[in-house]
Amino acid sequence: MKVLISVGARPNFVKAAALFEELRKYPRIIPLLVHTGQHYDEDMSDAFFKELNLPTPNIYLGVGSGPHGEQTGRIMIEFEKICYQKRPDLVIVVGDVNSTMGCALVAAKLCIPVAHVEAGLRSFDRTMPEEINRLVTDQVSDILFTSCEEANFNLLKEGIPEGKIYLVGNVMIDALKKHIKRAARSRILENLALRKNDKVKEYLVLTLHRPSNVDDPAILTGILNALFELPSNIPIIFPIHPRTLNRLKTFHLIERINYEASLSDKKTDKNRSSLIGTPPLGYLDFLCLMSKASGVLTDSGGIQEETTFLRIPCLTLRNSTERPITITEGTNVLVGNDPEKIKDAAMQALQNSIPRKNMPKYWDGKASERIVEILKNRYSSEKCLNI
Ligand code: UD1
Repeated sequence: MKVLISVGARPNFVKAAALFEELRKYPRIIPLLVHTGQHYDEDMSDAFFKELNLPTPNIYLGVGSGPHGEQTGRIMIEFEKICYQKRPDLVIVVGDVNSTMGCALVAAKLCIPVAHVEAGLRSFDRTMPEEINRLVTDQVSDILFTSCEEANFNLLKEGIPEGKIYLVGNVMIDALKKHIKRAARSRILENLALRKNDKVKEYLVLTLHRPSNVDDPAILTGILNALFELPSNIPIIFPIHPRTLNRLKTFHLIERINYEASLSDKKTDKNRSSLIGTPPLGYLDFLCLMSKASGVLTDSGGIQEETTFLRIPCLTLRNSTERPITITEGTNVLVGNDPEKIKDAAMQALQNSIPRKNMPKYWDGKASERIVEILKNRYSSEKCLNI
C-alpha cells in the first residue's frame, strides 16, 4: 500500500511526524512524504524536520509564498504530477492550510482515496482562509480522522456519512508527549535570561500571524499597546512569524520591540522594551518556553491545544475558535483583539486565576496508532484503488 502524506506549513510538520513514524513500522505500507514548500525558511521548515525526526521529504514541490489562489494553484499543479508519477493507494492530508486543501482536491479528482487528519474542526467564520480549507477538504475526503467528539457532530451535520468518520484523538499531542522530555533540556530559558540557578522568572509568550491581527496597522498597534500596559518587569517573549515581521517593519512598529534577528545577539539591557522579539523558534525551544510560561497569548490553532495539554493558560486573540474543546475542557479563553480585554486577560493569567480543567478524550499520545490501525483494517478488506 503506497501512501503519500502531504505537508506544507509549520503545523503540518508537527502533526505528520508521529503518524509518519507509525506508518513506517509496517512493511506492507510504503509511506512517501511530500513537502509542498508552502513554508520554506530554515526556521519555518528544515528545523522542524530535524527536531521531529522527520526524514528528508521524498518529494519537494517548492511552491513558496503567494496569494491564496496562486499558491493553491501551484500546489495543485505540482501535486497532480506527483500523483500520476507515484500512483498512490491513499493520500493523507493533515490540518487546514492551503497545502491540505490543494492536495486533497487533486487526489479526489483523480479518484485516489483521501484521508484527512484533524477533520471536522469548525470556527464557523468563513472569513478565515483555514475555514474554507477545512470545509472543502472534509467534503472531498473519504476517511475523516477527528480529534474530538464535536468534530464528529460537525461532519454529520454537513452530511458526511458516519462510516467515514473516526474519532482517533489528537496527533499534535502525540508529538508533544513524545518530545516533551527532550524539550525540557532546551537552553532557551537561559538564552533569554529567564532562568538563573534553576529559578524561572515569570514571563508571558506571544505569537501572532493571522492576517486579521497583523495586516491592519491599527489592530496590530492596539495589541502592542495593550501589552505595554502590563507590568514592565514581566518579559513577553515574542517569536515573530515572517509575515508578522514584514508587517511590523512596514508599519514602523518593530522599533518598539526588543528584537534581534539572531538569538545570539539578544541584548538583555534593562532599559529596553519588555516585549522581546526573537526569530521563529524551533519545536523543542518553543515547547520548553510554553511549558514554563505564566500564560500564552496567541492567534494560532495548535497552540490552543498544546497549552490545554500542558495546563498553561492560553489567551486566544481571535473572536472564534475551531477548537472550542480547549475552552470547555482546557485552559483557553477567547479574548479577541480589543486592547482592554487583552490587558485584563493577561493580568488574570499572571494572577493565576484562569481555571485549568480536564484533558479531552484520546489526547493521550496514541492518535497515530489508532489511525494506522484503522487504515490497516480498511485496506485489508478493501481492494486498493489506483488511478
Ligand atoms: C499558514 C497557514 C496558517 C497556519 C500558518 C502557520 C494557510 C492559509 N495559512 O499561514 O493556517 O496557521 O501557516 O504558520 O495555509 N513566509 C516566509 N517564509 C516561510 C513561509 C512564509 O517568509 O517559510 C512569509 C511570506 O511572506 C508569506 C507569508 O509569510 O507570504 C505568509 O505565509 P503563508 O504560508 O502564505 O501563510 P502563513 O501566514 O504562514
